[in-house]
Amino acid sequence: EIHPTAKEGSKAVAAEIAALIRQKQTAGEPCVLGLATGSTPKYLYAELVRLHREEGLSFKNVVTFNLDEYYPIEPDALQSYNRFMKEQLFNHIDIKEGNYHVPDGTVPKEKIKAYCEEYERKIESAGGLDIQILGIGNNGHIGFNEPGSSINSHTRLITLDNSTRLANAFDFPNMSQVPRLAITMGINTILKAKKVILLAWGSHKAKIVRRSVEGHSTDQVPASLLQQHPNTKFVIDEQAAHDL
Ligand code: GLP
Repeated sequence: EIHPTAKEGSKAVAAEIAALIRQKQTAGEPCVLGLATGSTPKYLYAELVRLHREEGLSFKNVVTFNLDEYYPIEPDALQSYNRFMKEQLFNHIDIKEGNYHVPDGTVPKEKIKAYCEEYERKIESAGGLDIQILGIGNNGHIGFNEPGSSINSHTRLITLDNSTRLANAFDFPNMSQVPRLAITMGINTILKAKKVILLAWGSHKAKIVRRSVEGHSTDQVPASLLQQHPNTKFVIDEQAAHDL
């Protein structure tokens, strides 16, 4: 789905999410969303906040699970995805405390495996993800699933590629302070969502969008594995669509 600008694309996705939240509200059901961080979904979250403030969209029936978090990191650190989500979305809507989940970057290392298994179980017991929102890294990563991540992977601790640490270094005082590890949902966790929406804006994403959509489906380009999901769409702007 190609939109003239990132703002227009984000508005369209926000409207789609709002419609599902309202439909589930009418049915008395929870709406379970998988959420992403990075610069890409910022307009989407701003638009959801606007819909809440100006059009009475309630998030009382919404349950969310974020894709990933650096490890180790304190939840209130400037670069923490826990903090990002509160600042961009959760602090501004009426989602219930306890209904939003972002992986915890402070879990002791020996407990991470159990913690990740529990994260998967929580998604399952919430009813599974209705919509998973994704951005895309320059190397095709989704969440923090770097190239080589198995299609069968679940929530786990992973080692970040150097290229990813470099791309995200602008957020940190210097490169050596970018964490080397992260907790991320797996490719399989993402593929189990009923619907997947990947967002990409700008000419710097054009090449990887093309490889993901038109290239072979391979674990060397994690986003290309979405070709194997029956209900996935890429919502992109004209610049990101340039090479298609
Ligand atoms: C990070 C996140 C990804 C995100 C990617 C792209 O590495 N873990 O979930 O999709 O960066 O970031 P941006 O949206 O800023 O381009």
